[in-house]
Amino acid sequence: MEKYIFRIKRVDPEKDTAPRWEDFCVEMVPTQRVLDGLIKIKDELDGSLTFRRSCAHGVCGSCAMKINGKNGLACQTLIKDVPLFYPSSSRCGHKRAADRDIRERIGMIVLEPLPALPVIKDLVVDMEPFFAKNQKILPYLINKETPPERERLQSPEDQQKILQSITCIMCGSCTTSCPSFWADKEYLGPSAMLKAYRFIFDTRDRATDERLKSVTQMHGLWRCHSIYNCVEVCPKEIDITKHIIKLKQLAVKKKVR
Ligand code: F3S
Ligand code: FES
Repeated sequence: MEKYIFRIKRVDPEKDTAPRWEDFCVEMVPTQRVLDGLIKIKDELDGSLTFRRSCAHGVCGSCAMKINGKNGLACQTLIKDVPLFYPSSSRCGHKRAADRDIRERIGMIVLEPLPALPVIKDLVVDMEPFFAKNQKILPYLINKETPPERERLQSPEDQQKILQSITCIMCGSCTTSCPSFWADKEYLGPSAMLKAYRFIFDTRDRATDERLKSVTQMHGLWRCHSIYNCVEVCPKEIDITKHIIKLKQLAVKKKVR
């Protein structure tokens, strides 16, 4: 077991007028996950700590947060893989934290809510503005042709074209790490555009032009400046920028503005 400081950015709208930092000292095995640390703190130190989690296996996307400066999933991030900070002082209240030798060995994990979304409490943000962007690109298959008797088939080659984009779990890590989104809250963002790609390049879909128009609007495709933050943080390792570039190429080819 090793000692760690969890420094968490907290806000309780019923009590606080501004966010505050709180330190918790916990003992953990380095191969445990950041989420395990949060659950331990909630169970043993402060039941009021608020965060989202559900599947605990990198599937639901609900535990996305900023972990030592980088968006990621708390349930998919092992403590040993977090580049730890080593603070010169800590407010964790550990009685030996003032001891120089001990202090230098305690690594710190800083947790903050996803940036650029309204905070509801502690690590929980309001995801509604994020989900609303996905709705704008019509995130469902559109095909008015009479369906075949059993199902609309797709060749393995065609499926390959959208395979990566299908693995998105909509955790919001990408959009909230994008500087274009920080600067323009109306910007559709990488997640919504990846979803648009998923349907535009689905050979069973028939609404390519309609969907392309929805992504080429003023706050859409052309606000992406290939900054690549979205790729850096995606927990599913999707090359989102590559997908956005393919959308741009298609929009130019089809002269959709
Ligand atoms: Fe943003 Fe990703 Fe484009 S970080 S600017 S959406 S490449
Ligand atoms: Fe579901 Fe982390 S709890 S992805």
